[in-house]
Amino acid sequence: MNVLVVYAHPEGNSFNAALKEKTVSILGGTGNKVAVSDLNEMDFKPALDTRDFLELENPASVNYLMEQRNASAKGLFAPDIKAEQEKVTKADLVVIHFPVWWFSAPAILKGWFDRVLAAGFAWDFGKIYKDGLLPGKKGMLVVTTGGNAQIYSKDGLHGTDMDQVLYHINHGVLYFCGMRVLPPFVAYSAFQVGDEGRRRYLEEYEARLKKIDSLEPIRYP
Ligand SMILES: Cc1cc2nc3c(=O)[nH]c(=O)nc-3n(C[C@H](O)[C@H](O)[C@H](O)COP(=O)(O)O)c2cc1C
Repeated sequence: MNVLVVYAHPEGNSFNAALKEKTVSILGGTGNKVAVSDLNEMDFKPALDTRDFLELENPASVNYLMEQRNASAKGLFAPDIKAEQEKVTKADLVVIHFPVWWFSAPAILKGWFDRVLAAGFAWDFGKIYKDGLLPGKKGMLVVTTGGNAQIYSKDGLHGTDMDQVLYHINHGVLYFCGMRVLPPFVAYSAFQVGDEGRRRYLEEYEARLKKIDSLEPIRYP
């Protein structure tokens, strides 16, 4: 299987980095091909603009979405987008690593969604969810948080749980584009659980990776 790891964390000593290393070593050790997009190391351009296209269809009145469709049809994406799209095309499994920042993903990863999962490439008009343009692929989020599991519950301080916090990515991005979505791996309170807690998370995550082929995707209505 071809695996694409999309990793969005600027700190090499973060716990998310340790989880990413597990993904690379465990999945890479079983005969899979693993490609890594380390967005911060690549200095990935996060904000979309007209430089994302080699040529514009309608320079007098730019509509980014329509330019994406045009670029998808005619092969007019800027090289950094094209390279990422080629990795996505090859991948059977996309594992996306990031720390939860403001109940969401770091801006650099949001920019990867915005620019790489383009109209005409990952989805199109009338081609979403089960008809999305990335069928046959699986996606999985691997996240670290500052908050603990208790406050991420309906009755907890945050008043919502991690499934809801990640819904806009799991459902709104991955499932939207036609991917099957594996349950996320969440390491709560990554820097407060101590060495023992982090060791347990790594063990748990390794066990999850070893049975990744048999993991049931989330069932959305
Ligand atoms: C800009 C920013 C926003 C953050 N927002 C959240 C948040 O919404 N929820 C949360 O649990 N932790 C939040 N945190 C804490 C990080 O999630 C936490 O420090 C990190 O995931 C710890 O894991 P790491 O070692 O992988 O960085 C935030 C941190 C930063 C820098």
